[in-house]
Amino acid sequence: MASLAAVGALPAVAAQSEDQKGAKQQIDPYNVAGEVDDAGNVQAIDYDYLIQEFGVQPLTEQHLQRFEAVTGKKAHRLMRRKLFFSHRDFDKILDAYEQYGTFMLYTGRGPSSGSMHLGHTVPFLFTKELQDMFDVPLVIMLTDDEKYLYTRNKNDGHQKAGAAADDFLDYAYENIKDIIALGFDPKKTFIYTDYEYLGGHYYRNVSEFESLVTFNQASGAFGFGGSTNIGLIAYGAKQCVAAFPSSYPDLFGYKDYRAPDYDVSAKRRHKALASIPTLIPCAIDQEPYFRMVRDRSDRMTDPHPKPALILSKFLTALQGPGGKMSASDPNSAIFMSDTTKEIKTKINKHAFSGGRESLEEHRRLGGNPDVDVAYTYLSYFLEDDAELEDLNAKYRSGELLTGEMKQRCIAELTTFVSAFQERRAKVTHEEMRAYMKPRKLEYSGNPSPKNP
Ligand code: TYM
Repeated sequence: MASLAAVGALPAVAAQSEDQKGAKQQIDPYNVAGEVDDAGNVQAIDYDYLIQEFGVQPLTEQHLQRFEAVTGKKAHRLMRRKLFFSHRDFDKILDAYEQYGTFMLYTGRGPSSGSMHLGHTVPFLFTKELQDMFDVPLVIMLTDDEKYLYTRNKNDGHQKAGAAADDFLDYAYENIKDIIALGFDPKKTFIYTDYEYLGGHYYRNVSEFESLVTFNQASGAFGFGGSTNIGLIAYGAKQCVAAFPSSYPDLFGYKDYRAPDYDVSAKRRHKALASIPTLIPCAIDQEPYFRMVRDRSDRMTDPHPKPALILSKFLTALQGPGGKMSASDPNSAIFMSDTTKEIKTKINKHAFSGGRESLEEHRRLGGNPDVDVAYTYLSYFLEDDAELEDLNAKYRSGELLTGEMKQRCIAELTTFVSAFQERRAKVTHEEMRAYMKPRKLEYSGNPSPKNP
């Protein structure tokens, strides 16, 4: 008989401590947690509320239809299923693409450990699909500096083993190999770490942007206080101006016009880079950075269009829908380095079930796929819409049991992770360095209204 874990109505997870009881939902780059009720139970993240709170727009059927009309292709499953559920100015990116044939894609990863987890692959899988569909340049930022500063802050300023600045650069290299294994086109993809790349016009953009953000504004956006280290307080400017194509002249065939061997008259032409629009795919925890950049992009000396965003929900923690899969809690996550056996054990042991308490009850009343973690993971990774619908219907009716849903999930994740690991094992240091070389990217389309 298939195992039936405790029942599926929320609450899924118990809060960690007494003082978390009654805590409001909190989503920002450093916190992802659903509301905690007075009994201490963590609720599922309320994405409708988040749309209101952040002031983003829902992604609608009309967007999907227009996207498919513009690209001539079926939208990615993550978009079809509204797991990418909200946006800012996505319409404008489609307008720009129709008019000029291109835009810049930008996304990133904070290398907090040497292996990415399944949740991190979500924005990257989607970004790869967008890059293939639109044939556009892509920059991927690895924030080794952010993760170093954040970790040091978390450790009250103490230096811990495996957490020196250099260690985060090592994690970044490992993560870059993970990202490459997801299949990005080397001709149109530039991957960098902050410790290695920051300088030139990028760094001048950083300084200018830093001058536009006060301590109070950074504290408000990210929850910083008087004891936050100053590196972390200033960090956001780097993630913000990384959205400006002018931070990467090499990728568009320019050098920094201040480079010793370059012609200062190039400055005028370089300005045209400021007119290239950018689209940022990420989960909604990163939105506070990009709200900040959108509020200030027209105040730069070279004003840039507001970067557009397409935002996903979080692949939930194994324990349920009140939190995200997180690398800092190994029991919450399936890592891309996990073995088949580990995946199986994690899903069987830890994946929260939307099933009923007894087999008889499950057959009679049916399960709840909305909170069932195995079903949720399938909705991110199973390509076949008809099969997913069938699993949903059969679970709801009680025909399909929790154990069976888990088996289907284990099979799908194992296929995905094993194929990934096979590709990952072949990524060499030289290949990694090829993606990291600042160089003119090759893509179609006229990048900017000013035609640089
Ligand atoms: P990081 O490393 O926390 O996350 C990397 C990307 O994965 C998304 N993400 C998730 N998506 C779905 N389910 C989850 N459980 C989940 N956890 C994380 C994040 O939203 C992100 O898109 N500061 C950033 C690095 C960064 C960045 C960017 C990210 C720099 N520039 C531009 C996105 C776009 C960070 O630490 O990401």
